[in-house]
Amino acid sequence: TKINKGFPADFLWGGATAANQLEGAYDVDGKGLSSADMVAYVPKDKRTQDHAIEISSERIQQILSGEFEARFPKREGIDFYHRYKEDIALFAEMGFKVFRLSINWARIFPNGDDAQPNEAGLQFYDNVFDELHKYGIEPLVTLAHYETPLGLTLKYNGWASREVVGFFTTYAETVFKRYKDKVKYWITFNEINMMTLSPFTGGGVVIDKSENKLQTMYQALHHQFVASALATKLVHEIIPGSQMGCMLARMESYAHTCNPEDVLKNQQENQMNLYFTDVHARGEYPRYMQRYFDENNVVLHVEADDAETLRNNTVDYVAFSYYMTLTVSTSPEGERAEGNLFGGVKNPYLKASDWGWQIDPIGLRVMLNTMYDRYRKPLFIVENGLGAYDKVEADGSIHDTYRIDYHRQHIQQMKEAIKDGVELIGYTSWGPIDLVSMSTSEMSKRYGFIYVDLDDEGNGSLARSRKDSFHWYKEVIASNGEKL
Ligand code: BG6
Repeated sequence: TKINKGFPADFLWGGATAANQLEGAYDVDGKGLSSADMVAYVPKDKRTQDHAIEISSERIQQILSGEFEARFPKREGIDFYHRYKEDIALFAEMGFKVFRLSINWARIFPNGDDAQPNEAGLQFYDNVFDELHKYGIEPLVTLAHYETPLGLTLKYNGWASREVVGFFTTYAETVFKRYKDKVKYWITFNEINMMTLSPFTGGGVVIDKSENKLQTMYQALHHQFVASALATKLVHEIIPGSQMGCMLARMESYAHTCNPEDVLKNQQENQMNLYFTDVHARGEYPRYMQRYFDENNVVLHVEADDAETLRNNTVDYVAFSYYMTLTVSTSPEGERAEGNLFGGVKNPYLKASDWGWQIDPIGLRVMLNTMYDRYRKPLFIVENGLGAYDKVEADGSIHDTYRIDYHRQHIQQMKEAIKDGVELIGYTSWGPIDLVSMSTSEMSKRYGFIYVDLDDEGNGSLARSRKDSFHWYKEVIASNGEKL
């Protein structure tokens, strides 16, 4: 076997985004409401939990009736809908080979279950893909990135209902046929494990009325797994040479001590995270999940051919986000660490971001090796980055050395993993342009190489400018990861 010593010549460098965090134009050109449009901005001192994305059926009704007044930053995004040409030109200037974006399902099927797709929505993505190809940038498209049409929630309780599998495959088939000459790389569900943390975010499922919440979540997940396999089948039939990936928020975890109790708990924690990619990449539920289901009174309703559908339509590559690692302890003592939705105890060897996410470049190498050993499929890092406060100097410059350091250290470890023999096909940093935060709806939590003049309250000119990291990343791409 030939093992690469550095990044392969066709390595896919780029950036990653989601429709609801950057497009705006939430009610333009026939788009319907989606789950993300229901997420209000809550200032930090008023947030009741460490995230404000899971909402109740009552809250949805209040929002729809106008009784609940708030700002909804994900409806406005950074106005990519009208500024995509300028933004793509900036990505091209950095030398992007790939740009990850999601299609907002409710632009194509405004209610989710419409008989016909919305032509204006389809046309918008045609324009975006054409603009990317103008610069030789390959689109990488996520079909569902926390944007379930709200109509599906109201009528079917989102992915809790089996019927949504059919609506999703219709949507997938529609966009595969439409963009068959423009898009080769696809992902079905962003961070599919989100369902177990925020079912509304992950699948438009309102859980508050559910008697057995775990049952509802795992059933909804089963529907997503089947839908993902069906979409994989369709894309292979419709677009020859296409590549379908699954996508996991990978949370590599460590045992806090070598106490076997901690080691066991850590193994279980990792299994619960890898279960999602196990189903997608191996084509069946891992055996350890059966015990978990039995002990938690989860009985999945499975149709006769589901097992075969999963088995015959595994993904071509395994994609994931990587921001941090977790540390697991069986002891109740120990200071808690923070994550957007994940937790664990503090790892004394790691520093954390302004939002408490524990930065762990070596963990990326560990994780890449674990994943490659387990699946033997190409891996794709489709999110990684540092959410930080940026300071704009009087002359407009932004010296984000902390962000450069973060990416440099992670890219160095990617290179080590490639030398270890891992097949890594690409790297799309999260939010190459500042966008609305998924977990907090803040603008001040910035990931970009490109600055956007917009604050948490929605004030700003929306003007784009280059941070120091912009010039740095451009060099990284130009040197294919040699100049860090
Ligand atoms: C991932 C999501 O979990 O992390 C993105 O796929 C999200 O949508 C990113 O934006 C960073 O999280 P946050 O909460 O800092 O925006």
